[in-house]
Amino acid sequence: MLDQTQRYILDPKQPGYDDQIQLFRTQFAKEGALVLPGFVSAANLKTMVSESLALSERAFHNFETSTIFLESPDPALPEDHVKRMVDHSKIHVIANDQIPDCSKLRELYLHQHLTSFIRDVAGVPSLYRYGCPLGALNYQLMKDGDGVRWHYDISDFVAAIPIQDADQGGAFEYVHNLRLTDNSSCDLARSYLKEQAGQASILESPLGSLVLFRGRNTLHRVTKILGDKPRINALLGYATKPGHNSSNFVKMMRYGRLQVIRPDES
Ligand SMILES: [Fe+2]
Repeated sequence: MLDQTQRYILDPKQPGYDDQIQLFRTQFAKEGALVLPGFVSAANLKTMVSESLALSERAFHNFETSTIFLESPDPALPEDHVKRMVDHSKIHVIANDQIPDCSKLRELYLHQHLTSFIRDVAGVPSLYRYGCPLGALNYQLMKDGDGVRWHYDISDFVAAIPIQDADQGGAFEYVHNLRLTDNSSCDLARSYLKEQAGQASILESPLGSLVLFRGRNTLHRVTKILGDKPRINALLGYATKPGHNSSNFVKMMRYGRLQVIRPDES
């Protein structure tokens, strides 16, 4: 059993659960981000670092070129239109089926109360572990030269645990509530895309935190990594409907394959 329960109440039957949830839910709704430090113990964090590094050679190195909405550019738009400008993201991903059943990360993901805890904090009526055999649980490693472009998420929110920082780079930058609603907001977004804007906010998240982030209406990126030490994040996948799977397009893009392999065959 992981010891995150010592700091946070995950069992809805425990006294104080509702008050705690109310506090977290209010903060998440207001700020679009919630960071719960110390969610994973130092000992388990160390195990997750070793595990992800041991698997890193098997990671798929995906290279995406896309617009701010993670789509192909529309050639009918002017070249400097914020919805046409493209940029690159490079990430190494260890898929769900490559993470062993005995993993401490998987133990946390399968914790009997974690899904309902995240459901209650996110304020959604129902939540299920993601049904994609590749995408349910991932380690995301960003090595020298990797980074994630400025973008908006497709999903309502993401749940992540920072596992290891890089020596340089890897800052999670965001511009809260910058939606492309009018010319001035498009101009501001364009200035970020062209590296001509001021410093964006940085989401500070100590290693071992549980991080919830709502990226659908908040422009965000991860700055380019420099050096030999990879930035490592665990990504916990959820969906509001049971059995939700990724499309073949997404699987090929993120994992480079459609077929599922077991850990001992990968
Ligand atoms: Fe994102």
